[in-house]
Amino acid sequence: MLRAAIIGATGVVGQEFLVSLNRHSWFEVKRIAASERSAGKKYIDAIHDKNTGIMKWHQRDPIPEYVKDMIVEPVNDIKPQDIDLVFTAIEADDAKVIEPRFAEHIPVISTASAFRNENDVPILIPGINDEQAELINIQKKNRRWKGFVVPLPNCTTTGMAITLKPILDDFGIKKVFMTSMQAVSGAGRTPGVAALDIFDNIIPYIPKEEEKVQTETMKILGTLNNGSIEPAHIKVSCTCTRAAVLDGHTETVFVETEKTCGPTEVKKSMLKYSENVSIKGLPTAPPEYIYIHDDPTRPQPRLDRNMNGGMTTVVGRLRKDPVFENGIKYVVVSHNEKMGSAKGALLLAELLKEKKYL
Ligand SMILES: NC(=O)c1ccc[n+]([C@@H]2O[C@H](COP(=O)([O-])OP(=O)(O)OC[C@H]3O[C@@H](n4cnc5c(N)ncnc54)[C@H](OP(=O)(O)O)[C@@H]3O)[C@@H](O)[C@H]2O)c1
Repeated sequence: MLRAAIIGATGVVGQEFLVSLNRHSWFEVKRIAASERSAGKKYIDAIHDKNTGIMKWHQRDPIPEYVKDMIVEPVNDIKPQDIDLVFTAIEADDAKVIEPRFAEHIPVISTASAFRNENDVPILIPGINDEQAELINIQKKNRRWKGFVVPLPNCTTTGMAITLKPILDDFGIKKVFMTSMQAVSGAGRTPGVAALDIFDNIIPYIPKEEEKVQTETMKILGTLNNGSIEPAHIKVSCTCTRAAVLDGHTETVFVETEKTCGPTEVKKSMLKYSENVSIKGLPTAPPEYIYIHDDPTRPQPRLDRNMNGGMTTVVGRLRKDPVFENGIKYVVVSHNEKMGSAKGALLLAELLKEKKYL
């Protein structure tokens, strides 16, 4: 059993980590940390607002028993020698300082964006670009670290990159246009999205999101050559919006391919990829990596985000795009907190353990 610490355990993603790691067969949560606001309190008290009586527990699953009486520690009290790996669920500015302190000694699996653009850091989606994990060895050497930092992508990149990969492999990709309708939980609790702004509304701007999706997609779908990743030669353009949905990001994706392909071929390609995906058999892996609906009213976030515990990427409305000479378009739903963050990070940890990086 590997001993894990969760940094940011009181937040939206941190809570998902606590639930996902409950009774996990490979990892055990030994330490939890959050900001100075929560440090020193029992977990159950840290998420309880004494003035209002409100429990800041965001999950549909109940608070796991094992964590209720654990003390939330200040990050500096957690010593790398007492644990085997760290999961981080904190904002990028904090992650920039905190993650290297652990990575000097032990592996850090991150949901933050702090290191995603560094040349010696791969952005891994388990099942999509596992071979880029080799960059970990170069990162350790470059930085003289015993551990490493490996981030997941932004949760908006995840569903799109997963569905683009089979298309790229089988038909080649020139251009991608995407519009997202992102869930409110994706903004976390701080700063979060005010009900007054989002109710009965769509907000057409999410700071820094579009740039992240564009660069991360090209890096993830790129190739590892002589110790660095050459980004895929794909032009990616997107509009990221926030919608009045609790969980699950919905995206409309338009792809210009190199070779001609129709919906039947693309469906076959995605299903073949899903059947042969590398992560099969890992404890958190879903039985279906990609699922495709023929019903034209699907996927919908409310109906599809929780498929296989939120770990399946759900596609629908696959059809030919009439604007591109060779083009395909579809809709995808991906759970931002499950495959898109904590549970995806856990699946990544399982993959890295299987590959002997942990
Ligand atoms: N929400 C999503 O769907 C999603 C998806 C993918 C990636 N992410 C990424 O995951 C990270 C966490 O997001 P979130 O939505 O969970 O945010 P959140 O709900 O605002 O939670 C932030 C957490 O960080 C803690 N924290 C704040 N300052 C800290 C410090 N200096 N040292 C240690 N802990 C500190 C907070 O503790 P207190 O409670 O004590 O303030 C809280 O536990 C972000 O980088 C975000 O971009 C989020």
